[in-house]
Amino acid sequence: MTPQVIAITNQKGGVGKSTTALNLGAAFVEKGAKALLVDLDPHAGLTFSLGFESPESAFDKTAYEVLDPETHLPLHEAAVSTRIDGLDLVPSHEDLVEIDYRLVSRAGWAWTLKKRIKDTGNNYQYVLLDCPPSLGVLTRMALVAADVALVPVQAEWLALRGLMLLNRVVDEIKSETDREDLISRYLITMVDSRTRHAQEVENEIRTHFGAEVFETVIRRSVKFADSTIAGQPLLLFDTDHKGAQAYRELAQEIAAYDQKARIGTG
Ligand SMILES: Nc1ncnc2c1ncn2[C@@H]1O[C@H](COP(=O)(O)OP(=O)(O)OP(=O)(O)O)[C@@H](O)[C@H]1O
Ligand SMILES: [Mg+2]
Repeated sequence: MTPQVIAITNQKGGVGKSTTALNLGAAFVEKGAKALLVDLDPHAGLTFSLGFESPESAFDKTAYEVLDPETHLPLHEAAVSTRIDGLDLVPSHEDLVEIDYRLVSRAGWAWTLKKRIKDTGNNYQYVLLDCPPSLGVLTRMALVAADVALVPVQAEWLALRGLMLLNRVVDEIKSETDREDLISRYLITMVDSRTRHAQEVENEIRTHFGAEVFETVIRRSVKFADSTIAGQPLLLFDTDHKGAQAYRELAQEIAAYDQKARIGTG
């Protein structure tokens, strides 16, 4: 079975993209799947949050070599094991900031990551692409490669504004690359359930995007930051925590949807 490729994306910074990649990946693995996380952010937040330090010196091969048009490295050859059995990582490298200079003069650059994932074969059931907070070359390549654009949305005022721009880019990619099957799914994160405001924003997002919004919502908790500092997903750091449970529910929703889609097409 080819992997399901999920691009976790939002050009707004600090909305929970890397936290979602880490905990959703851990939740898939807990259910018995093999998952590969790909850190496409030159700031390497995901790589650090798995307990790796100094990615620039720690790894021979990173996402940079995967995307470098000279090296053609299949994704799995840059993958390293993490402390979590079944969860692998393609680490980031700070040189990713200049990958656009190396790529964009070449025809077909937008397909680079998609090709590298294809070269990886059936090693993984899920490939999770952690995008940087921008709509640049790295995010576009991730969207071209993805089956699903998973968009974490912070439950706060003006959250919808940035989403319109992101949706325009997703629509552009769909028409430019003939990918009508690329779907967007919204994940409401950092909900402060004590405020009425958070509920209002959630209602607004659900009214606007309807069934494209996951039923699961992720509540705000300092435990997410604590677990990141400890170099672990919350699913391991505090396994029974509500936040960990929410990411398990999210994994379940995605798996159920996947099942339905396969039955639908089969
Ligand atoms: N549900 C949550 N509740 C509270 N804090 C959270 C939650 N999810 C993530 N955080 C914290 O918020 C900060 C930003 O999260 P994260 O790094 O996942 O966002 P990001 O979208 O990847 O950011 P960037 O755009 O900078 O890459 C981190 O300190 C993280 O621990
Ligand atoms: Mg991040």
